[in-house]
Amino acid sequence: MPTKGLEDVVAAETAISDIDGREGKLWYVGYDIKELAASSTFEEVIYLLHNLEMPTAAQLDDLNAQLAKERELHEFTKDLLETMTAVASPMSMLRTLVSAESAHDPEGWETPENDEANLRKSIRLIARLPQMIAGYCRLKQGKAPMDPNPGLSQAANFLYVLTGEVPSEDDARVLDQCLVLHADHTMNASTFAARVTAATLSDIHSAMTSAIATLKGPLHGGANERVFEMLIEIDSPEAVEDNIKARLANKKKIMGFGHRVYKTEDPRATVLRELARDLGTRKGESKWFDISERIYEVVRDEKGLYPNVDFYAASVYHGLGIPKELFTTVFAASRIAGWTAHAREQYSNNRLIRPESDYIGPAPRSLVPLVNR
Ligand code: COA
Repeated sequence: MPTKGLEDVVAAETAISDIDGREGKLWYVGYDIKELAASSTFEEVIYLLHNLEMPTAAQLDDLNAQLAKERELHEFTKDLLETMTAVASPMSMLRTLVSAESAHDPEGWETPENDEANLRKSIRLIARLPQMIAGYCRLKQGKAPMDPNPGLSQAANFLYVLTGEVPSEDDARVLDQCLVLHADHTMNASTFAARVTAATLSDIHSAMTSAIATLKGPLHGGANERVFEMLIEIDSPEAVEDNIKARLANKKKIMGFGHRVYKTEDPRATVLRELARDLGTRKGESKWFDISERIYEVVRDEKGLYPNVDFYAASVYHGLGIPKELFTTVFAASRIAGWTAHAREQYSNNRLIRPESDYIGPAPRSLVPLVNR
């Protein structure tokens, strides 16, 4: 019998991240996620995931310079961004633009065995995703996309190109922590998809396109946007209990709750809860956090389920002024660091990923000619 959803199946060895689902622990290359969220930046985490060591100051300066240099989109991608903004959802736009980037990447036609080229392509994609996402948002609002600011970090620049204003240090640091928390997560569905594509020795842009397509679904990255839609619908802490009980009675899943691996609270949700609380207080808008806390209590009491990364991320992103339609793309702008690291790890010790299936259809039979059917 196959394990439905490949539960408990070990699909790869990795040195990039590890989870203890019973204890609610997550490590990137041996470092506890809570420590990384408290004391490191997204850029340090990018370096860590790709090099399996924290950077020295000089190595970090070098990475920052590369990221700042690579943020600008190619004219071809800018044109495509306008076309896609008119007709596509944010995640469909991102999936298409990342795929299209390979056409104009200076090393887009390199074979995937060239690890140095893969690393440079990874940096370019990590640098450019915020430019695509923010450009989409501004075009939708009838505004011109902003040029990136090379003096800002990935997080600060992301908010800058989105809003047109250099963010406060506090806001930039909150987004930076979100990017740290979302950067990798072992063999989640989108990372697995990236590794399956990489394992055919397809190129890294193709692997990232698979990953983005997989993240898009509401059972994976698409959950954060649905969480905020639920908060809007509920609208007050007093309305939570009836609303959640009705959803559960109708066998609806509560978005942002449950996890395949964690049997206790997702450690990223623990950090995001504090960020959501502080941000709500700082912005004078605690309503979303108060509703979230009440949902947390009701779902815990009714179903024994805990929040996952998407639950509090929704109110944090909202507090930073990010429209809910972009939430899943923000997740992608961080997870691209992990996806690219996993694709390179797959290439470095590759074997085609090709599982088997149990056939449950009809027994072998003779074909009846069309005229006799
Ligand atoms: N709300 C209500 N019930 C839930 C639930 C949720 N969010 N998550 C799981 N359950 C219930 C299921 O209905 C099922 O109950 P049953 O055995 O009575 O039928 C049981 O818990 C197991 O759920 P299942 O969907 O089989 O678990 P999974 O490991 O396949 O799925 C998720 C994991 C994350 C896909 C699932 O928890 C979910 O859909 N969560 C909501 C979407 C979400 O937040 N995704 C982001 C993940 S980071």
